[in-house]
Amino acid sequence: MKHMNLEQHLIEIFQEFHQFPELSNEEYETTARIRRILEEAGIEILELPLKTGLVARIEGKQKEPVIALRCDIDALPVCEETELSYKSKNAGKMHACGHDFHTTAMIGTALRLKEKQQDLNGTVKILFQPAEESSNGAVHIINTDILSDVKAIFGVHSAPDLAVGEVGIIVGPATASVDRFEIEVTGVGAHAAHPDLGIDPIVISAHIITALQTIVSRNLDPFDTALISVTNLHSGSTWNVIPPTAYMEGTVRTLNAKTREFIPSRMRCIAEQVAAAFGAKAKLNWHPSTPATNNSKVWAEFAKQIAIEKSLQIAPYSVSLIGEDFAAYQEKIEGVFLFVGTGKNFPLHHPKFYVDTNAIIGSVEYFVHLAEQSMNRLA
Ligand code: NI
Repeated sequence: MKHMNLEQHLIEIFQEFHQFPELSNEEYETTARIRRILEEAGIEILELPLKTGLVARIEGKQKEPVIALRCDIDALPVCEETELSYKSKNAGKMHACGHDFHTTAMIGTALRLKEKQQDLNGTVKILFQPAEESSNGAVHIINTDILSDVKAIFGVHSAPDLAVGEVGIIVGPATASVDRFEIEVTGVGAHAAHPDLGIDPIVISAHIITALQTIVSRNLDPFDTALISVTNLHSGSTWNVIPPTAYMEGTVRTLNAKTREFIPSRMRCIAEQVAAAFGAKAKLNWHPSTPATNNSKVWAEFAKQIAIEKSLQIAPYSVSLIGEDFAAYQEKIEGVFLFVGTGKNFPLHHPKFYVDTNAIIGSVEYFVHLAEQSMNRLA
């Protein structure tokens, strides 16, 4: 591949990924496409027990140190509403989170690093991770044990709130922990004309929901960040019967492990004791998912320096309470999850979200330089 052709080649690759989005853990065609492109370039693909996704390895003139670059490859169950000539051909599925861009940028990075293989002072593993949206893909990769020799890891996300040529790099958490909860309230059903003969779970649920709002406002340090949202509430089936039970579910987002541990204990206490005050029972079911990302100060400053060397603008950027399972790698390896401007437009997961393809080649050049220089730094 000639350099002058790489950008056009990558835009074509990007458009093809965009047209054929696949959901979490179903990225068979996507994986086959990545594999084909990498194999054509003679890039080594590790034999791993992965259903979807893959890991490429580019070993330099010396094997160590080893660093990793990570992208995610899955799409969302969103009906695309863009006017792009290459819009999704898979009905009801869309690359609405830019993972097609991440994948393309990492393919470009792999192609460039392959050309420079003999000059590299170490090994680069490039993770094409499945199932980021369902939050279990990072665990699939970690379970293959290919990260045991990795000394630093970098992950990318498209930023539709940054212009092309801008990057957002945060020290500390960049995304939140994402946990799900359910609360089941058990009262006593009755005729609507006789609330005195029942215990109304709907009134009790309303008290529980209101009381849950006091955890963030009254129990946390005002400078800490967290959110608790009840997003689904269900009880009853008609107008003239007090139902026996109510069900609610929702999400909790935090930025540090201490707060993440504290909130469910407080929620359980509120749910059970508010219900008890009304003579009912409540049960909290807690479903932990991904932790908060946590960018190492040293590597975040390093990644900024590399961006400046590549003439990228460091844009002010704020932590977001979205989830990102890149956090699972950072529990084991120091690294940075950073944001690359893909042109200001609709937000992530929006049916009109799109990526400005001018962002591709600059990202490739950035990640190539970041990989090379981080190996030099570790060597
Ligand atoms: Ni995403």
